[in-house]
Amino acid sequence: MTTREKLIIALDVPTTDDARRLIAKIGDAGAFYKIGYQLMPIGGIELARELGEAGKKIFLDFKFHDIGATVERGVRSVARLGGDYLTVHAEPDVLKGAVAGRGDDARLKILAVTVLTSLSQASLARCGIDMKLEDLVLKRAEFAAEAGADGVIASAREARAIRARFGAALSIVTPGVRPAGAAHDDQKRVVTPADAIRAGADRLVVGRPVIAAADPAQAARAIQTEIAAAS
Ligand code: C5P
Repeated sequence: MTTREKLIIALDVPTTDDARRLIAKIGDAGAFYKIGYQLMPIGGIELARELGEAGKKIFLDFKFHDIGATVERGVRSVARLGGDYLTVHAEPDVLKGAVAGRGDDARLKILAVTVLTSLSQASLARCGIDMKLEDLVLKRAEFAAEAGADGVIASAREARAIRARFGAALSIVTPGVRPAGAAHDDQKRVVTPADAIRAGADRLVVGRPVIAAADPAQAARAIQTEIAAAS
């Protein structure tokens, strides 16, 4: 895995034209892009195909969550797109459906969303969940491993515990990353790129610190340099 590919840049912008302009500005520094549901209904699928043809890797952050049979059919359709990662929520039936829908597609990896990095222990309590956040992340990582998913989305704060329990069986993809001094925005469980890698994250998903930077290519390269130094 190249250092450039360890940084997944989230295309959290209003239109695919904005995304294309951003991708052009980032140039060679961008090797792996995330497309979420901000762009999915307005041309994001075509953009994903285009990026694939340009040799970029694609993370489809669709966070599926439905009955297993529906997830299975949805993932079967997504597999035809040629993405590299697809997210689904970490519930046993959802994960089983996703793994079945992916079938023997060698490229598409299924990632389980454990606990969103924008949530804190207090947010869980508001949802009626009194389990310790880290224990919930580990429980959901276990669902992922049991279902045969490829990895998890988890904060770097939980990455060490996931790596200790599951070794190389699960890839760890980590959002909520902020270079030292950057604004946290709505993220709560934030760490620096170097700390995330040292904690065991395989790849980092970064949005605003790159896409809102005056020079996004330079911001991406700075994060990649930090990743390389910590790897
Ligand atoms: O701008 P920022 O760096 O906070 O963006 C993080 C990206 O990672 C967003 O696109 C967000 O949807 C995504 N993400 C997340 N937490 C998860 C899964 C994905 O923040 N658990």
